Amino acid sequence: METIQGKKPFHLTKEEFSRQVAGYQNIWLDLGTGDGRFVRQTAESHPDWFIIGADACRENLREHSRKKPANALFVIANALGLPPELDGLCAGISINFPWGSLLRGLLEADPALMSGLARVALPGAEVTIRLNGGALAEAGWGAEAGAWQAHDQLWQSGFSARKPRLMGVHDLGTCPTTWARRLAVGRDPRGWEISARALPAQGLFAPTRANLLVST
Ligand SMILES: C[S@@+](CC[C@H](N)C(=O)[O-])C[C@H]1O[C@@H](n2cnc3c(N)ncnc32)[C@H](O)[C@@H]1O
Repeated sequence: METIQGKKPFHLTKEEFSRQVAGYQNIWLDLGTGDGRFVRQTAESHPDWFIIGADACRENLREHSRKKPANALFVIANALGLPPELDGLCAGISINFPWGSLLRGLLEADPALMSGLARVALPGAEVTIRLNGGALAEAGWGAEAGAWQAHDQLWQSGFSARKPRLMGVHDLGTCPTTWARRLAVGRDPRGWEISARALPAQGLFAPTRANLLVST
């Protein structure tokens, strides 16, 4: 898969990647990572985890990837075609304040996105999605309605999702991403957080809220 450190892209083979992640307790994927602040901070606060930040835009990744912690990796990848090297490895996935095709993929349950998430997730993997009103409005959705739409699409795609939680100024200000910080001081300091779990039998049956004992 294509990785980047500073301005330098390089191809990482599956074997090299396996060597890098060997011995870490958990692998966490931050999709649409932007400038990678979340990756850096999570890697520093969880030295026993290996954190991967992926974004389709290589320019975004330059600054934070230049001096990355040893337990972090930055990957140039489209969320709609995640690298097969990640298959079945991720104990956690975060998508913080997506826009563009990543946000549309969530709202429309684009099979390329949802099957990719299911593919890279370990059974029971923790999935956290944070959304903001401005991006949802650009995608044609009201803020709360958009958050519920993403919630429902997660269920349809085999993830047990809890109901969206409103994030206020404090939540945004303490969420370690650049976009969260921007929202915290902006005109509409609100976001919605959806926590979900990847279900073991994804792809084999379509779970419904009724047949799963997960509180929503
Ligand atoms: C608003 S920024 C949020 C960045 C970061 N997560 C944060 O909270 O600061 C949205 C990011 O999603 C990325 N993105 C949009 N569509 C994508 C896709 N299909 N695959 C990967 N990244 C995508 C953009 O390149 C951008 O960096």
